[in-house]
Amino acid sequence: MFFSKYSLDIRRFILIKLGVNIDHIATIRQQRRGKYPDLLDAALICKNAGADIITLHLREDRRHIQDHDVFGIKSNMINTDINMECAVVSEILDIACKVKPYSVCLVPERREELTTEGGLNITKDYNKIYKAIKNLKDYNIQVSLFIDPEYEQIEAAFHAGADAIELHTGKYANLTLNYDINEELNRINNAVISAIKFGLKVNAGHGLDYSNISKIASIKGISELNIGFSIISKAIFSGLYEAVKDMKSLIHKSSLNSLY
Ligand code: PXP
Repeated sequence: MFFSKYSLDIRRFILIKLGVNIDHIATIRQQRRGKYPDLLDAALICKNAGADIITLHLREDRRHIQDHDVFGIKSNMINTDINMECAVVSEILDIACKVKPYSVCLVPERREELTTEGGLNITKDYNKIYKAIKNLKDYNIQVSLFIDPEYEQIEAAFHAGADAIELHTGKYANLTLNYDINEELNRINNAVISAIKFGLKVNAGHGLDYSNISKIASIKGISELNIGFSIISKAIFSGLYEAVKDMKSLIHKSSLNSLY
């Protein structure tokens, strides 16, 4: 076995890191605006299960993650890398500069969208993005730009001063449904090669799940993958059995006790 000769530390450098996006735990909590499911508990479970990074998208409309979530996780999980997804707007970026996460991924954001739909258009919004990157880097925050796998966006990310790009894998994820993936995989692969030539770190994410992950995780040169929806969805089923059993047992215990 290759790794048996090497320390775990070497694995840390050569294996792709997993960022777990816990936004949708907050989506459930915000349905009642109560205390649970608790985001800090969720982040700790992810970390204990092997997540290298906790990813949170503080959206302008605060539909899931709230300001106190980012500050709370940052102050309670001191040895954990936090990645904040942020729109390029000063209100959110000011918060990021106060939180000082390990990294910020700048994303396009539209209120009416269900999730981040496409990558940034860096060439169009160059000045705004350039200023945001400079400001974040002044706070020692690593900045990545969420882009489609296109050469002109990669080149623009480099010129704007980004440390990293996060390639949008949403198109790949949707194509797997039609078994027509090779063209998009090539596009992603070529984007990784180009970005590395520019000296950019390459992350990827969006729509990745248990059936489509292996082809992306086999691409050489990717540093981090950010995955949310599929993990949280699977967690519902892996936890549902226990959750029902525990409730049933509490009900039975109480109803039996009431007989005495
Ligand atoms: N990366 C970015 C930049 C995103 O906006 C999202 C969605 O919030 C993800 C990764 C995770 O996508 P998914 O929830 O589909 O795994």
